[in-house]
Amino acid sequence: MALLDILTYPDKFLKKTAKPVVNIDGALQKTIDDMIETMYNAPGIGLASIQIGCDKSVLVYDPSYDQDRNSLTVLLNPKIIEACGETVSENEGCLSVLDFRSDVKRSASLIIEALDREGKPVKIEAEEYLAIVLQHEIDHLNGILFIDRISALKRELYKRHIKKKLKQDEK
Ligand code: NI
Repeated sequence: MALLDILTYPDKFLKKTAKPVVNIDGALQKTIDDMIETMYNAPGIGLASIQIGCDKSVLVYDPSYDQDRNSLTVLLNPKIIEACGETVSENEGCLSVLDFRSDVKRSASLIIEALDREGKPVKIEAEEYLAIVLQHEIDHLNGILFIDRISALKRELYKRHIKKKLKQDEK
């Protein structure tokens, strides 16, 4: 197993839309295992394929964030088929968005259809924290970061901060 590099904003790959997984083969299983290791190592609650430079629709998450991995879930080709209500995700952050957190408006509950890593269809009903995690990760598969869901002013301030930081790193 290998730890993968996590792409960070402003990497252009993060704007890509993931393509549906068609072949569930050994190479895909290896990518999934590497994503799982990379997520726990980060440590993070979720990781989407786009974040590691792979454009197949895969996400892994563990909202309980514990190392015994009881709540670890792998989803292929996840689709939100129903979203209800509104909530505010407090202080949301992302492994691909360094040095920044923000409140983000999210749906309160979701129904998701996907495949598990063996290709078996699964349906997930999620609310509260899990619904937020899933919206964040599925956004990644559609090329969307949480900073795309905050006010333009806040986003501009963050962009300026990152530009300045990148310039400093060049020196
Ligand atoms: Ni993220």
